[in-house]
Amino acid sequence: MDDAAARDRPLGPADERVRAARGVAVRLGLFEALAEARSTAAELAARLGADADALEVLADALVCVGLLKKHGGRYANGDVAADPARPGESGDLRGDPPVAAGRPRGIEPRLLRAVRGFAAGTPSMPRTLSQELYRDAQVLGPRLAQAVDLSGRRRLLDVGGGLGGYAAAFCDAYPQLHATVLDLPGTVREGRRLAAQRPPAQQTASDRETEEGTGAASRLAFVAGDFLQDPLPRGFDVVLASDILHGQRAPDAARLVGALHDALDPGGLLVVREVLMDPERTGPPWAALFSLTLLAASASRCYAEDEVRAWLAEAGFVDVREAVVDSEPWDPNRVLLAAKT
Ligand SMILES: C[S@@+](CC[C@H](N)C(=O)[O-])C[C@H]1O[C@@H](n2cnc3c(N)ncnc32)[C@H](O)[C@@H]1O
Repeated sequence: MDDAAARDRPLGPADERVRAARGVAVRLGLFEALAEARSTAAELAARLGADADALEVLADALVCVGLLKKHGGRYANGDVAADPARPGESGDLRGDPPVAAGRPRGIEPRLLRAVRGFAAGTPSMPRTLSQELYRDAQVLGPRLAQAVDLSGRRRLLDVGGGLGGYAAAFCDAYPQLHATVLDLPGTVREGRRLAAQRPPAQQTASDRETEEGTGAASRLAFVAGDFLQDPLPRGFDVVLASDILHGQRAPDAARLVGALHDALDPGGLLVVREVLMDPERTGPPWAALFSLTLLAASASRCYAEDEVRAWLAEAGFVDVREAVVDSEPWDPNRVLLAAKT
């Protein structure tokens, strides 16, 4: 199986998140409730004492792996009775007694709390995850910079830009560009440290030829801030929002898109790099299961393309289109471009 097929394949119950989701469903009595009547997420939530939005994320992930079905917003039990990934083990996964009787493990307790409506607090991103994303950016950043033409642009703001990997890739590709990375204080400290270590070899030929002789690293600045609490800096002709919407709850994500609009000058370009869900929100599989991780961590989820487009329109963006990036098969992100008039 190639990487793309592996990414799109519905993950089996061996995936920790599937086991956790199934465990939460068993504990809540979700499968029994659906055996009695097909129901919407709101109906199920009222019956089971759960939060409707969180229950929908859970149910959509269970649809994704075949344990439930969804038609016209109503859920029913799916046809999968046994785990095809574990031949020889039989039994109905929905009623798996050990799941219900055992102590919740892994992300299951947090998922259960979120589905019951006791939302988790603001998550702090582990340092190792920032570094992992930075390593991804070393590979994906140059491809993004190739797909999104910033030739005429001079000031880029990378909101929630992590350790600055994508901003640095844009500075490498466009010698006239200055980038500012905004992130939480701890991440900014680490980003500054890494930027200072960027070897001169990463300067482009045109950097070496500019009159000031400035390298890409010297065109990269970091600013600490909270994009939900603090006003964003203004006066940019490009704003990059890479994988920051899915960590927020929907009202905050919508508000954040408005703030991205304010940060841009007229004629500015917004680049949204995101894991986008299908309109039904039951796939792609990677996104449906990642939504479980996000639900457990921060009571958020991945958003569907139409939701993101609606926020963009509401904020005043026009000419929304998708950029075609020659990305890696393991990268689940898509890229939307939007213009400020
Ligand atoms: C999933 S990471 C994406 C990092 C980078 N943009 C990328 O695509 O690799 C989300 C980033 O948003 C930052 N972040 C989360 N909440 C934030 C907030 N309220 N204010 C500023 N940054 C925040 C995190 O520290 C993290 O670096």
